[in-house]
Amino acid sequence: VRNYVHDLSTYPQMEEIKTGFKKSELIAIPTETVYGLAANAKSEEAVSKVYIAKGRPSDNPLIVHIYDQQQLDFVEDIHPAAQALMDHFWPGPISFILPLKKESLALKVTAGKDTVAVRMPSDPVARQLLEIVGLPLAAPSANLSGRPSPTSYEHVYEDLHDRIYGIVRGDDSEIGIESTVLDCSGYPFRVARPGAVTESMLTEIVPGCITAADYSDEAAPIAPGMKYRHYAPKSPVQLVEGGITAPLAVESHVAVVGPETIRHLITGGVFYTLCEDEKDFAGAAVHLYDVLRAIDHNEAVTHIIFSGFKRQEETDALMNRIDKASAGK
Ligand code: TXA
Ligand code: MG
Repeated sequence: VRNYVHDLSTYPQMEEIKTGFKKSELIAIPTETVYGLAANAKSEEAVSKVYIAKGRPSDNPLIVHIYDQQQLDFVEDIHPAAQALMDHFWPGPISFILPLKKESLALKVTAGKDTVAVRMPSDPVARQLLEIVGLPLAAPSANLSGRPSPTSYEHVYEDLHDRIYGIVRGDDSEIGIESTVLDCSGYPFRVARPGAVTESMLTEIVPGCITAADYSDEAAPIAPGMKYRHYAPKSPVQLVEGGITAPLAVESHVAVVGPETIRHLITGGVFYTLCEDEKDFAGAAVHLYDVLRAIDHNEAVTHIIFSGFKRQEETDALMNRIDKASAGK
C-alpha cells in the first residue's frame, strides 16, 4: 500500500493520487469524523472495488464526498430547507440524503436507490484532496465491514493495507464517530443516523424541519447500514446504564471501559480509559473506536463492561454506537 503524508501541498505525488482516482483505484483519506475509503463516484469499477475491499453488503449505499456545491450536479429538486441546512452546516459532519439525478453516478454508489447521501467534509486534508482531484468521491468508513470505524491511519492500515492502493495519512479524526445522516428525500426530514450535528442544532436553523424517526429500528432502518452488526468488538459487551457509580470487582478476563474518574471503583480486570470524566462526551467519541480495537487486541479479555453516559441529546450519537456495540445487553 502506498502511504501519502498529510501535507499534500508539498507532496510531489499529489498527481499520483489524482491519477489513481481517475484509474479507479481506492485511496483512504482522513476526514473529521472517521477515515473514509474513497473511490471515483462516477466509476462503476472503482465503486465495485469498495464493496469488495470492505466485504460490504451490496445493499448498503455509500456517501459521496464533494469539495463545493458546484459539484452537486448529480442531485435534483433540493428542498429549500435542505439547502438552508447545507449552507449552514457544510463543510462539516453531516450527510444529506437527496434525490439522485438518474445516470449521473455509478449505480452501485446508491445500491440502486433513487436517492444519494452527500457530504462536504471540513478536514483540511480531505478538502485539499477533493479540490485537487476534482471528482465526487464515494467513501464509506475505511474499515472492514463489521469492524469499528477507523479514526487513525493505523486503524485503516490494520484493516485494509493489502486490499487498497493507498492511504493518505492525516491526523487522528477530530470527532471520532460517523456523520449525522439526514434523510431529505421527503419533508419533514428524518435523522437516519445520529452524529455530531444534533436535531436541535438543525431545528435552530430551520424550525420544524425534523420529524421523529426511529433510527434504532433494526428491521427497517432508513439507512440500510444501521441494520448491520456494527461497531462491535469481538467479546460481548454489557452496558451499565447511566454509568458505574458503585465499587465493582471483576474477574481478570474482564475489560471495564469508562471515564478515568471511575477507575478507582474497579477492582480486578483491565481498565480502559475512554475519556476524562462522565461529562467528557467529546473525548469519549474521539476514543471510542480506538478503545474497542485495543480491547480486540487483548487476548486475555473475554468480556467487556461499558460504563454508559447519561442519555440526553448531546450523548445521542455516542450512546447509539455504544448500544450497537452492546446489542441491547
Ligand atoms: O462520517 C461519515 O459519514 C463517514 C466519513 C468517511 O464520511 N462515512 C461513513 O460511511 O460513515 P458509511 O458507508 O460507513 O455509512 C453510510 C451510511 C450507511 O448507514 C448507509 O446505509 C447510509 O449512510 N446511506 C448512504 N446512502 C443512503 C441512501 N441513499 N439512503 C439511505 N441511507 C443511506
Ligand atoms: Mg461504516
